[in-house]
Amino acid sequence: MLLDKRGCSTIGQLIWKGIEMIREIKVIYENDPSVRGLEGLLNSGLHALILHKCISHPLYRIKLRSLARLISQITRFITGIEIHPGAIIGRGLFVDHGMGIVIGETAEIGDDCIFFQGVSLGGTGKHRGKRHPTIGNNVLIGANATLLGPVSVGNNVKIGADTVIINHNVPDNCTVVGAPGRIVRQNGEKVRIDLAGIGDGSEKRES
Ligand SMILES: CC(C)(COP(=O)(O)OP(=O)(O)OC[C@H]1O[C@@H](n2cnc3c(N)ncnc32)[C@H](O)[C@@H]1OP(=O)(O)O)[C@@H](O)C(=O)NCCC(=O)NCCS
Repeated sequence: MLLDKRGCSTIGQLIWKGIEMIREIKVIYENDPSVRGLEGLLNSGLHALILHKCISHPLYRIKLRSLARLISQITRFITGIEIHPGAIIGRGLFVDHGMGIVIGETAEIGDDCIFFQGVSLGGTGKHRGKRHPTIGNNVLIGANATLLGPVSVGNNVKIGADTVIINHNVPDNCTVVGAPGRIVRQNGEKVRIDLAGIGDGSEKRES
């Protein structure tokens, strides 16, 4: 039986991942009002997550990287969703439509997030090491939003459709929209804060 670095059985992990997928199925029914009966099982995001969590990511962890990459390319062909085998994805991710989503090798995604089609969690160049975004828990990322670099997005964040965030962190409990992204809502209040100013004391506020 194959053992990973921590000595866990790969087959045991696979069974555990299978059980975890029940949560992924549940969130489809919770978040998509158009889904009835068994339709939820046809969600392409679910298929991509099953193949990633149960096959390509475990293969990547035991250093069968070419095989892992082959599975992720097959997944991309079937679903239109490209998840690098190295990406770490939490529980309860709901992917709506899915087509065109790209998730890079060192991306990390927390629990209970929602991604729409065309979301990119990418790098900015050819750097090695951590170069993709880290997303907190309960984060919604709208259609075609682009997040580049090793940025960190806090918990309870909404990122609007078509938003662009490059090399800037996003704090907890806010909504970010636009290109370049700016905070338009924080802790329930309307604000206007440029992400470029976050953390250096130069935040620009209006209203
Ligand atoms: C950002 C979003 C999640 C709403 O979050 P919210 O916290 O409820 O924000 P609000 O609706 O109060 O909007 C706050 C401000 O941002 C603006 N805004 C909202 N979404 C925006 C977007 N994607 N791009 C630019 N501005 C946007 C609103 O017009 C509003 O501006 P105002 O203060 O001048 O009136 C939502 O608008 C969104 O983009 N969801 C993505 C949905 C999606 O991708 N669907 C695809 C289905 S196929």
